[in-house]
Amino acid sequence: MAGNWKMYKTPAETSAFFEKFRPLVAGTNHCEVVICPPFVDLAAAVESARGTMIEIGGQNLFWGQEGAYTGEVSGQMLRAAGCRWALVAHSERRQYFGETNENAAKRILGALEVGLTPVYCVGEMLDDRQSGKTEQVLETQFQGGLARLTAEQFDKLVVAYEPVWAIGTGKVATPEIAADAHRFIRDQVRKLFGPGAAAACRILYGGSVKPDNIRGLMAQPEIDGALVGGASLDPVSFASIVNF
Ligand code: PGA
Repeated sequence: MAGNWKMYKTPAETSAFFEKFRPLVAGTNHCEVVICPPFVDLAAAVESARGTMIEIGGQNLFWGQEGAYTGEVSGQMLRAAGCRWALVAHSERRQYFGETNENAAKRILGALEVGLTPVYCVGEMLDDRQSGKTEQVLETQFQGGLARLTAEQFDKLVVAYEPVWAIGTGKVATPEIAADAHRFIRDQVRKLFGPGAAAACRILYGGSVKPDNIRGLMAQPEIDGALVGGASLDPVSFASIVNF
């Protein structure tokens, strides 16, 4: 269960979140819990999560480990800051910052190189779905981001299916729509990396996940977890999602 805080919270607000969140998930051991705050909050988040099972991730990373790339943050830096995870190619990165499948592939390799678990985000826009192109888009994103990986490398990655029309809109995909897409993605995994990888691969659903819809989503065997935006900002709501 992963929380993506997007561009919300200061370091002080981060510490305050953890004060409330920690006791609410103290007994949780049925899943991994990850929070991805803005870069400037990482130190506060790592400090607040110390000694708990909560892990911290970056929302993005650059593919090289250091160099003259003003404004960028590398996997090596995320590791040194205490991160174990990194989101890659979130749809907001694709939509507003020009990220592509090609540079997602490089970011994924940059993460794997330093032992971060990449969460590779894929998902169709509303137009794609309405014009019957969902599978084509998912296949292109999947192949473009992942085709260069070996099966061993893929084994260390998590996929997130986030239909763009469901992100931040309150329009959650029905469990059936989400499960269909997950099934399609798992087929892609099978084609590229074999049946073992397809069975083992964790695919998270993201897009308007809330405490009141998590149970229905998680009832689908195809859905292995959630990537939660808005509802991860509040400790009580994210804890009730984690402990659905
Ligand atoms: P949302 O965002 O839960 O606010 O829809 C999900 C995401 O963008 O990861």
